[in-house]
Amino acid sequence: MNSEQSAKIETVLQEERVFEPSESVLNRYSIKGFEKYKQMFDFAKSDPDKFWGEAALRELHWFKPFHSVLDWSDPPFAKWFDGGKTNVSYNCLDRHVKEGRGSKIAIIWEGEPGEIRRISYEELFVEVCRTANALKKLGISKGDLVALYMPMVPEAAIAMLACARIGAPHSVVFGGFSSEALRDRLNDGQAKAVITADGGFRKDKIIALKEAVDRALANESCPSVKSVLVVRRTNQNISFYPDRDIWWHELIPSQSANCPPEEMESEDRLFVLYTSGSTGKPKGVVHTTAGYNLWAHLTFKWIFDVGEEEIYWCTADVGWITGHSYIVYGPLSNGVTTVMYEGVPRPSNPGAFWDLIQRHKINIFYTAPTAIRAFMKAGRSIPDMYDLSSLRLLGTVGEPINPEAWIWYKEVIGHDNCPIVDTWWQTETGGIMISPLPGATPTKPGSATLPLPGIEADVINSDGQSVEANQGGYLVIKRPWPGMMRTVHGNPQRFRENYWEYLSPIKGEHVYFAGDGARRDNDGYFWIMGRVDDVINVSGHRLGTMEIESALVSHKAVAEAAVVGRPDEIKGESIVAFVSLDSDKEASKGLLEELKAHVSNEIGSIARPQEIRFTNALPKTRSGKIMRRLLRSLAAGEEVKGDTSTLEDKNVLDQLRT
Ligand code: PRX
Repeated sequence: MNSEQSAKIETVLQEERVFEPSESVLNRYSIKGFEKYKQMFDFAKSDPDKFWGEAALRELHWFKPFHSVLDWSDPPFAKWFDGGKTNVSYNCLDRHVKEGRGSKIAIIWEGEPGEIRRISYEELFVEVCRTANALKKLGISKGDLVALYMPMVPEAAIAMLACARIGAPHSVVFGGFSSEALRDRLNDGQAKAVITADGGFRKDKIIALKEAVDRALANESCPSVKSVLVVRRTNQNISFYPDRDIWWHELIPSQSANCPPEEMESEDRLFVLYTSGSTGKPKGVVHTTAGYNLWAHLTFKWIFDVGEEEIYWCTADVGWITGHSYIVYGPLSNGVTTVMYEGVPRPSNPGAFWDLIQRHKINIFYTAPTAIRAFMKAGRSIPDMYDLSSLRLLGTVGEPINPEAWIWYKEVIGHDNCPIVDTWWQTETGGIMISPLPGATPTKPGSATLPLPGIEADVINSDGQSVEANQGGYLVIKRPWPGMMRTVHGNPQRFRENYWEYLSPIKGEHVYFAGDGARRDNDGYFWIMGRVDDVINVSGHRLGTMEIESALVSHKAVAEAAVVGRPDEIKGESIVAFVSLDSDKEASKGLLEELKAHVSNEIGSIARPQEIRFTNALPKTRSGKIMRRLLRSLAAGEEVKGDTSTLEDKNVLDQLRT
């Protein structure tokens, strides 16, 4: 571990509270008691093929059974359930309808202006079939990539499932990304079609999604894209290009509701989802059919354990992996009622979430620590105005949760009746990896607790050795698991090097490096300390510092830029940029605002720096490397500690202390 990285995981833990599952909680869950978890864990460890093979046969429908469970003969390129044929949309729809559960509500959707749609499994099935046929009509066939750039409307889930039905991998691009970011993703994936909407409602604004698509495609800059399917959502005026654009409501309803699912090979691609890494442009994380389906299904079932009459709500956006696995695929594969909400809490409606829980009598609620911290700051008087007694389980995802926020969540939202599941995972892992099982695992505020059955997690040092209890190190996964990403789209070398061979002393051993620092306590519990690479996590959104730096230097006034994260009470981290200008450019308030807007334009407003500091030069080592550790301390207003002897020009530091 280099000094940069070890500096990031020095935090000492002092949290010692433990919450055992209460008697009533114990009785509610299928995986009851710690012994049961241990049995499952030990079985998965001692005979993984049997464990996963049995689970795959039991939990999924197969057109043709697989002949091998895991083929790891060419690591890190895994093949799970080779020889098998299945279809994710079949597992999410047809089987429930065939089992006589067609009238059960699959999706309860609430729009930002307040409209509500309840879509049964039967109705969802019909809509997905029609949309799948429409995609075929647009010339999409098995293997073609379809991009989605959508607001949180049911059509987003319908489109994902329609793609899965015909074997066209989808690539969902979060609607908050800019047209530039969209264009990069369309070109990298060579998308053949884009599904979008005229616009979307976000907070109290209307966003211009179609306009962004038009900009991304202007001047033939994405030649692979042949058609754009447009959902009418906001009714705003948009440009329409008849040889390329088609309205959803004009195409879909006239299609046949009969669309047999494509029989997909287990390892056929299900989707590509872009995420930020420490180097260069965002990478397309590839997930395939059977392994991903099984992992989203099983983890959802183990952790949330949703009953037949219960209602589950995850507040993520479908543009992120959490939306993929825990709004769409996990819940629907399990035949559960999942809530999809277009809105977000905001000053004009601070009780929006609690109002939704009260009205829909939601039982399981899954959200991000950032949201919890914001609610906590606004005070308990807001949630106290609502009846939250339907809740029985609360989850968090996306960033470390501080013990105060964990306790507040448990007491104020859960009224001390709900276990908290702090779930650690990543876009790359496909589904949850480290999390309590609510009926089995004693919880500790701020710890994601223990790995799920089949997950061999460890904390190691840069020599590849497991570190002792309470020592910081790299979080790694030592065995393949079904939901693991299969490759980086178009760049298998990056997959190999960044994830499986990153820790040089154990080269050749193929250990998955997550990019996070962690420590384990005396009970083996994992405490995730955050990223140790150049990735920052702002409100649970992952951003590469290099991406933001490239956006800054693409501005004509900027000579050099360095971006770091600064601890933020609500957002976890906020973005601070140090910028040096070309010699003929003057620093000014106007330019500062222009640069912030420039980053929003290049990436999206989630990447907008909170602070930009102008400087004549950046602190560098004599070999020319920017010393980010120093910048992080400066951004946080801390004393610059540690070795500065390698700094080329010590005067730079004084200048940066603004
Ligand atoms: O740093 C970890 C943090 O989020 C990163 C993954 O980001 P992304 O791929 O966007 O997926 C987010 C949703 C799964 C991880 O490397 N992270 C995620 N969950 C937790 C977390 N950090 C601490 N505790 C968590 N529960």
